[in-house]
Amino acid sequence: MAQAKPGGERQVLESMYSMIALVFILVACVELCDAATVVDVYRLIQYDISGAPFGSRLANLNHHAGSLQFAPGSDLSRTVLIIPLRELNISFVKEYITQNQPLGGLLFLLPQIFNIENRERAKSNHQTDGVELLKNDLAELEKLLIHSKIPYPVYFAFEDDDIEAVLADVKRNDATGQPATATTGGYKLVVSVPEPKKRASPTITNIQGWLSGLKTDGDANQLPTIAIVASYDTFGAAPALSVGSDSNGSGVVALLEIARLFSVLYSNPKTRGRYNLLFGLTSGGPYNYNGTHKWLRSFDQRQRESIDYAICLNSIGSWDNDLWIHVSKPPENAYIKQIFEGFSNVAEELGVKVGLKHKKINISNPRVAWEHEQFSRLRVTAATLSELSVAPELLESTGSLVDGRPFVNEAAIIKSVKLVAESLARHIYGHEGKNVQIFADNSSLAVNPSYIKSWLDLLSQTPRVAPFLSKNDPCILALKKELEDHTDEVNVQHEVLDGMFTFYDSTRASLNIYQVASVTFDLLLLLVLGSYLIVLFSFLVITTRGLDDLISLFRRPPQRKVKTA
Ligand SMILES: *[C@@H]1O[C@H](CO)[C@@H](O)[C@H](O)[C@H]1NC(C)=O
Ligand SMILES: *[C@@H]1O[C@H](CO)[C@@H](O)[C@H](O)[C@H]1NC(C)=O
Ligand SMILES: *[C@@H]1O[C@H](CO)[C@@H](O)[C@H](O)[C@H]1NC(C)=O
Ligand SMILES: *[C@@H]1O[C@H](CO)[C@@H](O)[C@H](O)[C@H]1NC(C)=O
Ligand SMILES: *[C@@H]1O[C@H](CO)[C@@H](O)[C@H](O)[C@H]1NC(C)=O
Repeated sequence: MAQAKPGGERQVLESMYSMIALVFILVACVELCDAATVVDVYRLIQYDISGAPFGSRLANLNHHAGSLQFAPGSDLSRTVLIIPLRELNISFVKEYITQNQPLGGLLFLLPQIFNIENRERAKSNHQTDGVELLKNDLAELEKLLIHSKIPYPVYFAFEDDDIEAVLADVKRNDATGQPATATTGGYKLVVSVPEPKKRASPTITNIQGWLSGLKTDGDANQLPTIAIVASYDTFGAAPALSVGSDSNGSGVVALLEIARLFSVLYSNPKTRGRYNLLFGLTSGGPYNYNGTHKWLRSFDQRQRESIDYAICLNSIGSWDNDLWIHVSKPPENAYIKQIFEGFSNVAEELGVKVGLKHKKINISNPRVAWEHEQFSRLRVTAATLSELSVAPELLESTGSLVDGRPFVNEAAIIKSVKLVAESLARHIYGHEGKNVQIFADNSSLAVNPSYIKSWLDLLSQTPRVAPFLSKNDPCILALKKELEDHTDEVNVQHEVLDGMFTFYDSTRASLNIYQVASVTFDLLLLLVLGSYLIVLFSFLVITTRGLDDLISLFRRPPQRKVKTA
């Protein structure tokens, strides 16, 4: 019965071929359905302060895309709103977040100028209209997001053609007034990542370098020390984007250049000063300068007392004409007076202004607004040089999304370096009040603009949120190596960031955008599947029972009719 006739064999082969073709079509269809755009996304920070949750509390995303054109009153609990910064209505977002309205997720699209990984494009976009307005909007949004507890995933991405095409489709669909479902065609946004985990004992790393002064034989005592300090880590709404070009990249760059300049002077015994210079790159800046605190405690009493004064450099990369010296001791204090006059004289020659700001410290208040306050708490004379006229709030001006390379001015950093280096040198060599230019332009001791530019470029591409930097992060190693090139003795101190802050990982991810199948597509798929099943059925019948059986299968009913007739 199962013996196949020649004709039947050919038939079997043909149906085999058609089946193979169908399988290919099917695979192609499934492929089409899978066609997805993949976009790099950066998650809103998730952290706790003393156990109180802040930021985005979820990372996994699997919801339909929606736009701000959604129909009023629609349920958004399973929708990810895509909001371009250019169309941001901050009061809407504020309302949604503060009233705890249900939402599937938020995806903010930022203009390329804020992209740290795409500098060329960012530069060419610099002339984008209304950049200042966008910066203000973004800063306001960031502040809102950082200080809220948001029970759904919040991501940032950058504008590009793919995602803008998706958004245009979503808007068109939303304008019809019907929510996107599987039948109207729409997009699904999917981020699959493991549940965010707590960062166990995050480290903060301080790096210090010494340039020893010239000790003459008669010197029994330790030489006095001048410390130059900058905090290098950042904090921002998206840790993976928090590069802090100005806060505090600018201070770090200035510190490195000052170290380079003095290493030239100190390499020659004739020009080696009778002061030790201590360079400190500290971490934990956004958290009340926890790293600075721990760094200072690691010195012994004698070492600490040998510090004549410390100059902390903060946000000195985007000022025009005014800088501020912040101090905690009263302006009448002899040391403060001396520091301020030294800086003022040099500033005058450079054609810029420095002002003095006095803010008392309150020992019982855990908040430390300026880095120099950590020194003041230990009775070491210190000042912070900054373009900011008032102390930022906790977690503010610490390297936000708007603090990128395009907004920092190299010329401002060069001027700051000149101001600090010249003032220090006059103090060290006893030229105070004299108009001598030690770091004159075009001399071998001139400030090097290309050195400043290359470090600024590098730091502006390197996120530096301390809990996400490992002990051996390339950034930390690079800073260490650079200090080693300019100073005699470099030490690295690893400490644990203890206390009230807890951080969660999962700071960046890939977002998959799938086009949800539409009705016509579903029908097509059904048709293809149906014919495939029919062919498969026929094939099985032929191979097991032969062609005749298959034909008789379709013929039997009329035969029966004939019989009964
Ligand atoms: C922004 O959102 C608020 C609150 O939802 C709304 O009242 C206001 O009309 C919106 N503004 C614009 C320009 O759409
Ligand atoms: C100092 O800080 C403590 C704790 O925050 C506060 O209670 C106190 O009022 C502050 N004192 C002054 C003079 O501001
Ligand atoms: C940068 O460093 C200065 C002093 O070193 C400090 O006052 C300032 O707040 C720092 N900024 C950040 C964001 O840590
Ligand atoms: C330094 O060199 C530039 C050109 O390289 C020149 O324009 C400038 O006048 C020089 N400055 C001084 C102080 O010699
Ligand atoms: C900073 O350091 C001290 C002890 O060195 C610690 O008690 C404090 O909680 C730390 N954390 C913060 C965020 O201030």
